[in-house]
Amino acid sequence: MIKVAVIGCGLIGKRRAQEACEHPQSQLLAVADINLAAAEALACEYNCQSLTDWREAIANPEVNAVAVATHNGMLAEIAIAALEFGKHVLIEKPMGRNLAEALKMAATASSAQRVLKIGFNHRYHPAIAKAYHLYKEGMIGEIINIRARYGHGGRPGYEKEWRGNPQLAGGGELTDQGVHIADLIHWFAGLPTEAFAYLQTAVWPLQPLEDNGFGLFRFADGAVASFHTSWTQWKNLFSLEIYGQKGSLTIEGLGKSYGVERLTLAIRNPEGGVPEIEEMVFDQPDLSWQLEWADFVKAIETGCPYLGTPEDGVAAMRMLNALYRSAEENAIAYV
Ligand SMILES: NC(=O)c1ccc[n+]([C@@H]2O[C@H](COP(=O)([O-])OP(=O)(O)OC[C@H]3O[C@@H](n4cnc5c(N)ncnc54)[C@H](O)[C@@H]3O)[C@@H](O)[C@H]2O)c1
Repeated sequence: MIKVAVIGCGLIGKRRAQEACEHPQSQLLAVADINLAAAEALACEYNCQSLTDWREAIANPEVNAVAVATHNGMLAEIAIAALEFGKHVLIEKPMGRNLAEALKMAATASSAQRVLKIGFNHRYHPAIAKAYHLYKEGMIGEIINIRARYGHGGRPGYEKEWRGNPQLAGGGELTDQGVHIADLIHWFAGLPTEAFAYLQTAVWPLQPLEDNGFGLFRFADGAVASFHTSWTQWKNLFSLEIYGQKGSLTIEGLGKSYGVERLTLAIRNPEGGVPEIEEMVFDQPDLSWQLEWADFVKAIETGCPYLGTPEDGVAAMRMLNALYRSAEENAIAYV
């Protein structure tokens, strides 16, 4: 039985607490939040200890795994301390506020020989997971280009929340939802070599953070990926299109406000004209959090490979780092 502490009892900490309780091989021992009421409410729901100091949670010798779900500003400090105490760690995306924090976490996990998993839950969404499987089976051939769009409409007062505070967030929308896009591009197509970005602060008073990020990546084999992440996407949107030499995979929606999750496989007609189309609809509840937790538990128990490794987290942070450099210098940046 893996004994768990969850640090940060906000939106995502609550999900982690629920999964830790519901999985047959994990047990929630403690939750911690600087907001005592948030910690107590969650502890009361799952009958565990509530703490206001995360250090107490990671120092508990009974705890073997820690889920870190604070704002981005504390992810690295808590993850590194927990790894140094010999705990396995699941941290939310992004892997810290910047590449330097990500590299430090990866090095600590490596020397501590503990599982460090980055919360890229999108990889467990059924349409995305199925698309990856079909791609790996060779259904669309070699990837030639990718187009991605992801966004929601933000909200008034965002500038007063941690996502609007550069010290606590590390970046704006490019970091927030953009890191999922970077991770998915990296998962499908590998690490790009070049990046170019334009950033906007178009509507919300978030300077120096961006509410929109537009980016281009180029890969060593000539493939290209483009994306747009937005906090002015007034109707929530998720769209990921992957084009190969033989066909394409199109994922639309992520459930709930993002619309029903759908995958379209198009196989190119060698004669030209209309491709062969297969449409798949995934309208069940979002199980990505449950599957992600199960992958974490299995990795701890068996040492088997898992998704969202430190290398994956670092790759996504390298890609964001190149995009921010590009936007600042108005030039292509090398990843
Ligand atoms: N995978 C996803 O799709 C996804 C979605 C949303 C958020 N996230 C990530 O999850 C993390 C948390 O986001 P959220 O939306 O749950 O935020 P949130 O604001 O709802 O919750 C954060 C919690 O952390 C607590 N906290 C802050 N400093 C702390 C400290 N020093 N010790 C203990 N607790 C502390 C806050 O009091 C708050 O309760 C972020 O890193 C975010 O990027 C991931």
